[in-house]
Amino acid sequence: MPTVSVVRSTEEMAEFEIPSGEVLFDSLDNLGETLPHGCLAGSCGSCRILVIEGKENLSPPSAIEQDTINHIRISYGEKFGEAYLQGKTIRLSCRARVQGNVKIEKL
Ligand code: FES
Repeated sequence: MPTVSVVRSTEEMAEFEIPSGEVLFDSLDNLGETLPHGCLAGSCGSCRILVIEGKENLSPPSAIEQDTINHIRISYGEKFGEAYLQGKTIRLSCRARVQGNVKIEKL
């Protein structure tokens, strides 16, 4: 089973074994690690995460997820500057399916 590592702070990280193909948010929630969330449908962006390692081990974003991610990037760019998220992978935990090991943190 893939391992999902969740960075909780600079000093704390938790690891979870998740069945391949499962939705990231649902699987973590079932194991007691509830991430921020809202609609659970890919449109509000409340469940946004940064993928630190293993972005290739998540299912490709759907059109709805990608549209929400694009809006998040614009919003963060306006708040913190264009360079803030440059080179960083944003995903929505309520949409991404785990296919291999990943390391994430809340955004
Ligand atoms: S909870 Fe709304 S996009 Fe994931």
